Amino acid sequence: MTVVGGQWGDEGKGKFIDYLAREADIIARGTGGNNAGHTVTVGDKKYVFHLLPSGILYQDKLNIIGNGTAIDPKVLLDELCSLRKDSYIPDVPNLAISGDAHVIIPYHVHMDLLKSKGKIGTTGRGIGPAYMDKAERVGIRMNDLLNKKTLEEKLRHNFSEKAKIFEAFGDSKGAATYRDEEYLYNTLVNYSEHGRRLRDYITDTRHILAEADRQGKKILLEGAQGTLLSVDHGTYPYVTSSECSVAGLSSGVGLFRDMKVISIVKAYTTRVGNGPFPTELTDSTGEYLRDKGNEYGATTGRPRRCGWLDAVALRYCLGINGNSIALSKIDVLNGLDELNICTAYKYEGEPLMHNGRKLQKDAILTEFPTDSQVLSQCKPIYGYTQPGWTTQNELPKQARLYMEAVEALTGAKIEIASDGAERNKIILRK
Ligand code: IMP
Repeated sequence: MTVVGGQWGDEGKGKFIDYLAREADIIARGTGGNNAGHTVTVGDKKYVFHLLPSGILYQDKLNIIGNGTAIDPKVLLDELCSLRKDSYIPDVPNLAISGDAHVIIPYHVHMDLLKSKGKIGTTGRGIGPAYMDKAERVGIRMNDLLNKKTLEEKLRHNFSEKAKIFEAFGDSKGAATYRDEEYLYNTLVNYSEHGRRLRDYITDTRHILAEADRQGKKILLEGAQGTLLSVDHGTYPYVTSSECSVAGLSSGVGLFRDMKVISIVKAYTTRVGNGPFPTELTDSTGEYLRDKGNEYGATTGRPRRCGWLDAVALRYCLGINGNSIALSKIDVLNGLDELNICTAYKYEGEPLMHNGRKLQKDAILTEFPTDSQVLSQCKPIYGYTQPGWTTQNELPKQARLYMEAVEALTGAKIEIASDGAERNKIILRK
């Protein structure tokens, strides 16, 4: 089974993956890095993972961090040590890391803060620059951490290239940092040490997955971020730098099979960082959703922008990932007088060529425009409105009505829903 985010991330994937992982033998993630944050609540304990797959709490299941990820080894080691306290070489037997996964080096974080954080509103974790190096074919991979000579050659090359970039951006302090032999030496020592501590986990994860598949084992692929943040399919340029849809996830672990795909969709919409968001609510209803849904970034703590469910965007994402939904956080809508779902957009910008056609002012759009210039000029049309509900105990009739409306408006099936953060707050639908 494959689980991906069906909106702009933060859909509550961690909870469903934790639930679905009970049936799996292997849980593998294949995209993004510590820009992600998955929250899993077990009893009264809350775990937030940024790099570790959400199945790591099941000690009998193998968790894989695949080739398509960008790993900050220091963050990963901290996360591992938080699971196994007091161990310098963390002893977590149910983890495997691809030797081909890319490594985040301090210059990536430095460049992220210099170039993209303000404009895109990135998490500032160095993700974009690490994927830039991957595409430029100068990236450092997990296997390189295990070979000091190779690591030194690559670091030396990259330090000198990055120094030129910092210079060009007028950051002379940054340029001097990456020309400093002592800093290069310290980075080499630190990253070799990270490699030493992670050595036992670094392996050929594609081989493990292919073998497991041959043996009929159950594999759960865990997406990160959401389809609207995908560098290929999202609201470019306000996206992350990995491909977050089902296709990117397959590539990020090196396994494509005819698996069931479930898109996790929140019962309303949120977005962190900059970029167009047609159904955003900047009024007290938006605040209600933020407070009740605890909509603050698991990674950066930033307040998430909140709004109504957008069936136009949803249809688009489901078109890519397939027609199965797990609907999360339906309980957050509890207590609202009225609920709205966006069913179309009105384009209110100047006439513009878009997908080969002239888009006129006041045009009604029922297909999602990924072009940020177009999307930022789209006003939502709420073609579906219903009364809210207040019952706390069991899922009220109005909530079921809401789910049926989501299905009717998207043509998809809601297979599971969740009405609370705890492990047992799961509703299975026939
Ligand atoms: P980056 O991934 O740090 O480069 O950030 C690029 C964009 O993706 C920013 O708008 C971030 O807020 C957003 N983003 C990255 N990771 C997540 C996530 O896990 N949830 C929600 N938004 C994210």
